[in-house]
Formats: sequence, structure tokens, C-alpha cells
Amino acid sequence: MEYLTLTRRNSQFQRKVSIRIGERANYVNSPHVIAMVGLPARGKTYISKKLSRYLNWIGINTKVFNLGEYRRHATTAYKSHEFFRQDNKEAMAIRTQCAIDALHDVCLWLECGGEVAVFDATNSTSDRRRMIYEMVVKKMGFKLFFVESVCDDPQIIEQNIMEVKVSSPDYKNMNMEMALNDFLLRIEHYKEKYQPLDETQEAGLSFMKIYNTGEKVVVHKHEGHIQSRIVYYLMNIHITPRTIYLTRHGESEQNLEGRIGGDSDLSYRGKLYGAALSQYIQQQDIPGLRVWTSWLKRTIQTVAAIQAPQERWKALNEIDAGICEEMTYEEIAEKYPEDFAARDQSKFTYRYPRGESYEDLVARLEPVIMELERQGNVLVVSHQAVLRCLLAYFLDKSADELPYLHVPLHTIIKLTPVAYGCKVEHVKLPIDAVDTHRPKPKIPGTLDEKFKRSSSSDIMKENLKNSS
Ligand code: F6P
Repeated sequence: MEYLTLTRRNSQFQRKVSIRIGERANYVNSPHVIAMVGLPARGKTYISKKLSRYLNWIGINTKVFNLGEYRRHATTAYKSHEFFRQDNKEAMAIRTQCAIDALHDVCLWLECGGEVAVFDATNSTSDRRRMIYEMVVKKMGFKLFFVESVCDDPQIIEQNIMEVKVSSPDYKNMNMEMALNDFLLRIEHYKEKYQPLDETQEAGLSFMKIYNTGEKVVVHKHEGHIQSRIVYYLMNIHITPRTIYLTRHGESEQNLEGRIGGDSDLSYRGKLYGAALSQYIQQQDIPGLRVWTSWLKRTIQTVAAIQAPQERWKALNEIDAGICEEMTYEEIAEKYPEDFAARDQSKFTYRYPRGESYEDLVARLEPVIMELERQGNVLVVSHQAVLRCLLAYFLDKSADELPYLHVPLHTIIKLTPVAYGCKVEHVKLPIDAVDTHRPKPKIPGTLDEKFKRSSSSDIMKENLKNSS
């Protein structure tokens, strides 16, 4: 494998980072620190986690450093908001030391190959931001971008406190009402010294400000590609409750033969699934539902009876298996044994000759994710490999796990955003289908019985029996 070696320079260190050529669509030349800014309960942790999930998904090694966790580690059990009073000198010294420790860890992690560190803290004074700048930019030579969340809508703030703050480890010994009141007082202490980012006072800093979860966005002196991608992403997310429904097309004729790719029609059971899916969707009575399919016949046929606005996305087409299109796994193993084994060794990065890899798919699906983030309720009807990529984004799965995620036929996967993540439910509709999942074999290139010729022709016979 070919490697490209980049040298990272800064005032203290010089380091070499090796990047596998052709395997990474995205990489960051200069390490970045994204430092959050804002009063407590303004969604900073939500933004940090979500941004980190997105950047990791597009292949940028990202980690969140949450200052609250450093503080909890450095102190005995939390007693009350008094800890956050501006005149509490002892506590202030601990808090400053925690910030310094966290920043050291941020820099160390970036020195060891991390690409983007998200510093999740209030960073609510210009003094604190200056300290971060000195350490991150002046001393280490890294890039620094502040993201401030400004929110003055009491409803959003209270909702945030109730959803994530009252259940924080700080409040494990308090009831909900006490916790809410304590947290509101904590916010008041921060307000005494809060200095929002200001274009004239802090003219040299790069930053963006997000008002009331995206109502308005201000960007000041952003630097380069990664920062503009972050701005673009954060401009598209919203917190309005909704559900995303993912499902594969109904079983296809080529599924029955164990053939990958192609553009075949639905099987008899596949058509039954289409009808059952439409009935299920109708029963759910989902407000404003939109239906997205790929350009392939099997997805379009699956949603034919669904009464909702439909859109076709070429980006939702199944992974292009290149020279292996429409072959069975058995045929590929026989005809291209080296390729077949190579795919088992590194399924995420393996690219079919004249086709695609999972990594290519993630890049192709980025606009789909961006549009999904903007939308309300959506039903996405697509394919096994594509849905694995979408699921990995929502469930924060690594590149190693992604190509082996289970996405069975005739099953609806419901994703509902909750607190910092997503609730997942699998709704299996009662129509049998073949199992196309091929788990990672212990020995690369080997095939289990299920995918051998005799087994797939059995499935075909069963289908013919059902349709007659
Ligand atoms: O077998 C159905 C299918 O959707 C194929 O069209 C596609 O090539 C395959 O699944 C992707 O799954 P895997 O990456 O596990 O081969």
C-alpha cells in the first residue's frame, strides 16, 4: 500500500503523519480545535457530540473533551450552584485548573494523530478565550474556531435542562424540581460574567454564532475547508422532533438468486412487502411525510402504493460492484478469489474494480445526510450497503462496524432523536424474505453454506411455490 507522509510543524513539535493514499476522502492538514462558547443549557454538548459524529463519519478523526467531566473528576460530589458563584475563589481555581488540564489533553491528543478536538465548555469570557488562543494557536500552531450557541428562548432552555441536565451525575441525589432550580441559579452565576463573542472586541478570532438553534447564523473570519464544512453542517441541523424511517426495497428477483447489484423487479414476496409497508405507513398517519427512493426499480416498486410526496435520489442507489455486478458471492469467490478475500480483509476501504467502496458510498451520501438533517419525517427506501452507511451516521458506528451492520429485508428501522443520540426500533413486517447478510468470515475469502449454489436454488423453489 502507498503512503503519503505529511510533516506537521508548529513552534514545539514536528511530527510525521502517514495517510494511506486513495483510502481517505477527507483529511486535515492542520489539527483543529473547535471551542464551544455559551451559557449552560444552550445545546453546546448536543452540538459537540453531533458535530463529532458527523466529522468521524466523513473520515475525520474527531473527539470531544467535555470540561464538566474534568470538573466532576477533580471535585467531590456536587452540592449546589454555590460552586459556580463568581466570588467562590476556591472553586474558581479548581475550574481554571480543569480547563488547563483539558486543553493539555486536547493538544496531546492532536499531537498523537487526532485531527479535530471539540472543547465542550462554556468558554464564556474573553479572558478564557484568550487563554485558549495562546495555547492552541500561539504555542501549538493549531487552527482554532469558536462556535457560540446563543439562546434566549426560555422554552428551549427549560426543555434542554429537563432532557439532559436534571439527569446529569451532578443531580443524582436531587429530585427533578430541585435540580431544575439549582441549574437555573447556576446559569445566573455564569450570566454575571458572560461576554458573548464580539466581532470588534475579538476581531482576530475565527468564530460562528448560532442564534436560537439556527434561526440566524453569523460567521466571522472562518479559515479554510474544514471550518466551512462545519459551518455548513451546523447551519443545516435542527432540533424539531421527527422520525426517520429506513427500509430496504422488498425482496427482489436477484435477491432470490443471491445476485448482488443489478436492477431487477420485486419478487412475489417483495411485492407483498410493498403492500404491507404502504399499509403500515398509512396506519402511522405521519405528518408531512416525504418518501425518498433510489433510481432503481426495486425501491420505486416498493413505494408504489404509498400516498405521500416522493423523490428519487441517484445517490441512494446501491453500492456499485463494478466488474462483480449481478454475480453471486460464490461466483465472485471463484472468478476473483484475491478480490473476494481482500474485501473481507478491509471491507470499508475495498473498492470493487470499476466500482465503489463503502468509503466512496459515505462520500456519495453526504448530501443525503445534509438534506435529511434539514427535513422532518422521511421514509428512505434504499439498499443494504447504502442503509448501513446512513445507520452508521445516526448510530455513531465506526468504519470497521459499518459494513457489517444488520439491515434485513422486510424490516423498517425507526430512528427518533433523543437527548444526545437516536432511539432505534426495528419493525419486522410478517413477510418472509431471503437473508442477504454475509457476516465477516474468520478466514478471509471463505464462504458459508448459505451462499452456495444449492442453497440459493432452494430459495428460488420456495418462492415459485409461494407465487403459484
Ligand atoms: O445482496 C444485496 C445487496 O444489496 C447487493 O446489491 C450489494 O452489493 C450488497 O447487498 C452489499 O452488501 P455487502 O457489502 O455485504 O456485500
